[in-house]
Amino acid sequence: MILLGVNIDHSATLRQARYRDAAESSGGSVEPDPVAFALSAERAGADGITVHLREDRRHIQERDVWRVREACTTRVNLELACTQAMVEFALKLRPQAVCVVPENRTEVTTEGGLDVVGARERVRALIEAMAAAGIETSLFIDPDEAQIELAARLGAPTVELHTGAYANAYHGPGRARELQRLRLGAVRAHDLGLRVNAGHGINYVNIAEVRTIPHLHELNIGHSIVSRALFTGVEEAVREMRARMNP
Ligand code: PXP
Repeated sequence: MILLGVNIDHSATLRQARYRDAAESSGGSVEPDPVAFALSAERAGADGITVHLREDRRHIQERDVWRVREACTTRVNLELACTQAMVEFALKLRPQAVCVVPENRTEVTTEGGLDVVGARERVRALIEAMAAAGIETSLFIDPDEAQIELAARLGAPTVELHTGAYANAYHGPGRARELQRLRLGAVRAHDLGLRVNAGHGINYVNIAEVRTIPHLHELNIGHSIVSRALFTGVEEAVREMRARMNP
């Protein structure tokens, strides 16, 4: 059974498109509410809710994160940059899990995952600080052997394999190669004792292949579910994705 973490960031993207500077003056009419989105997702069987508090605050705001933490009853996964400010925020918030993602260009590998090799001391300190607080850390990395091996050596319990390159190659000649990279990466991570999550660019079509990656524990899916929810409602969108993940 592969678990589903629903990333609600883009429900906040929609709200920010209209209310970026008007939240206070528009009273209760600010919509859509990402927390209501999260609660609907939970009702439909989401196993966790993921939010990314970006340094530029382009979608999710601090207040959203606190409200999600208070209202959600499954598992909150906070995506964050590897910075002192975000470490301090996570230690105050105490989500069940954090996922370290690159925001700064120098922290990004070729495919777009976190460059653990380049940021190793900061990543190590973050993992240790989270572990001491009982928060599980996941590293969002490419399915690259050097990154996976270092993630294990630094003591990360979990990696989230970046499926973006595969999703981008889906309609082109690189698809089989990218899928194979993910498969090999998942096997390597599992052999090293890491829990294997995956995410980015997963949709209702490519899920049929993504779900065949071995050892998958959880998928984090956002854009595609938020998009479908516009037509079907949130609960149906989440139910449908779960069904396709675990037919
Ligand atoms: N996992 C991580 C680490 C991400 O940064 C994102 C995108 O915010 C996702 C999963 C979800 O990607 P998508 O919105 O393409 O489903």
